[in-house]
Amino acid sequence: MTAPRVPLVAGNWKMNPTGRDAAVELADAVAAATTGLAAETVVCPPAVYLEAVAQAVAGRIAIGAQTMRAEASGAYTGEISPLMLAGLATHVILGHSERRQYDNETDAGVAAKVRSAVDHGLVPIAAIGELAKERRAGRTEEVIDRQLRAAISELDRIAGSGLVIAYEPVWAIGTGVAATPDDAQVAAAQIRALLHEADAVGAGEVRILYGGSCTPDNAEELFRMPDVDGALVGGASLQAAGFATIVRAAAEVRG
Ligand code: PGA
Repeated sequence: MTAPRVPLVAGNWKMNPTGRDAAVELADAVAAATTGLAAETVVCPPAVYLEAVAQAVAGRIAIGAQTMRAEASGAYTGEISPLMLAGLATHVILGHSERRQYDNETDAGVAAKVRSAVDHGLVPIAAIGELAKERRAGRTEEVIDRQLRAAISELDRIAGSGLVIAYEPVWAIGTGVAATPDDAQVAAAQIRALLHEADAVGAGEVRILYGGSCTPDNAEELFRMPDVDGALVGGASLQAAGFATIVRAAAEVRG
């Protein structure tokens, strides 16, 4: 028997807020509002605020980076290495659709980053999901299959890796139109089945998050789905009280 999965809710602040004090204030408010809940709370601030946020919330909530380079050091202008995240972040979002779209992240690149994160003791939150046109063309399953197989392709084993998968249909991100709980479950179940093929023990450990217009209003029904273990939240993570409501829903439904 695998231990029950601890629900996880991660806030992806993206390129917000535009000031160190506002970042510290938001993180502090999230920590205050989520302490003691039976869910793992993660905030992912912009890299330049990691240190200040880490100091402000030390030990109260977890901190994630929004991306990193796979390499440990070297001539990669503007990049951040997994070694540099040590002591500042325990989690890292990898392969977010905005990075795939604007920064040329590829399936192969995401695979290398997932491997590197695990090797450096960071929890990878690997994001996958189909575009609107892919869904319209009936290719959702195929895209999930391809992106997930790639993301785990360089891992020796999934069990013990800490791997988290975020299913984020791209058409739902920032649009106010979330996937239905049933659609989220169909994708999450497909992800769990694929992981099971690769590593039967590990598949039961992996937290599968839903992401894409997750709000305090729809979170609970999403978390009632058997394979949805939490959420990756963008816009709604910038309001501490609303974000805490989502964490509370995860704790109450699944904690
Ligand atoms: P959203 O973003 O919650 O604003 O839709 C989710 C994400 O991009 O992770």
